[in-house]
Amino acid sequence: MAGRDGARDTGLPAGRPSGLVGKEIAGYRVEAEIGRGGMAVVYRARDLRLDRTVALKLLAPELARNDTFRKRFAHESRVAASIDHPHIVPVFEAGETEGVLYIAMRYVAGQDLVALLAREGPLPPPTAVRIAAQVASALDAAHAHDLVHRDVKPGNVLVAEGTDRDHPEHVYLTDFGLTKKSLSLTGFTTVGEFVGTLDYVAPEQISGKPVDGRCDVYGLACVVFETLAGVPPFRRETDWAVLWAQQYDPPPPLAEHRPGLPEAVDAVFARALAKTPEERYGTCLEFVAELRAALARAPGGPAPATGPGHRSPGPPREPPGWARPVFRRLDVRP
Ligand SMILES: Nc1ncnc2c1ncn2[C@@H]1O[C@H](COP(=O)(O)OP(=O)(O)OP(=O)(O)O)[C@@H](O)[C@H]1O
Ligand SMILES: [Mg+2]
Repeated sequence: MAGRDGARDTGLPAGRPSGLVGKEIAGYRVEAEIGRGGMAVVYRARDLRLDRTVALKLLAPELARNDTFRKRFAHESRVAASIDHPHIVPVFEAGETEGVLYIAMRYVAGQDLVALLAREGPLPPPTAVRIAAQVASALDAAHAHDLVHRDVKPGNVLVAEGTDRDHPEHVYLTDFGLTKKSLSLTGFTTVGEFVGTLDYVAPEQISGKPVDGRCDVYGLACVVFETLAGVPPFRRETDWAVLWAQQYDPPPPLAEHRPGLPEAVDAVFARALAKTPEERYGTCLEFVAELRAALARAPGGPAPATGPGHRSPGPPREPPGWARPVFRRLDVRP
């Protein structure tokens, strides 16, 4: 399996990272390479018609040659472009030029969650919950349009600066319908190497069963587990062992990696990571609401969710020191 951080040969004409810089493709001038995954290279580019900066994603030519993928690419990029959501990267254009499929989308200044976790390590619970809630709202919106992401993973979560102190980060989800797992070759390249990561793949995806939004609940739960624990729930020595674990092993207690969080969190992950979709939360936001409530039981955790269905008053708080004599005198126990 290709490492998710390392530079990978996508077979694109770029070959070398800087191969296309300065060139013009379908009305975009390529300015710099931003990153590359297992099947695409993403560039910062200038939209010459509208004179704005975009992210231009060029997909590997072998994908353009795969008919199933092309059809799905055309369909799903149209659906993704039609979803207007604050946490989904807006797609401006998707097309094909000289045998290469491309997508022009909003350029998100910031870093992806892989880079953020590499830099910061496991995140404070309030930050993890803020990020999870934004990704969850994006996924639930997509599911409402009958669109399943299928490839929720840290590399597809882009974290930009937020608007103010109450919203320190603005999170975007990207790459709808672009998963290699949608290929008829199920993600294996011509040389038989699996490109990408199996750390976030739901059991029903592995066994080739039909998937729905609940496979994204599973993927999101793997990602959120990693933001809290520093590692995804099923880290194993080999790809085969990861596949086995996703299908059969229970997720480990979070405390194995991150001591000090309330045990209630484990029950939330157990349900979100259930092996059968029927046993999982029905929506991604439901999962995040339960997680927030579970984390709130620990000192320093985020505040419990408010609003209908989320009232959890918790134990009464100690009175402030100056009020204690009053309570003692009246013999009122708070
Ligand atoms: N709209 C965007 N704005 C800014 N950076 C982006 C944008 N889209 C993608 N990137 C960056 O480009 C990197 C490569 O993206 P790409 O989707 O090709 O790979 P990946 O998602 O990491 O892996 P995989 O190929 O397995 O899907 C991303 O990790 C991200 O950092
Ligand atoms: Mg991606």
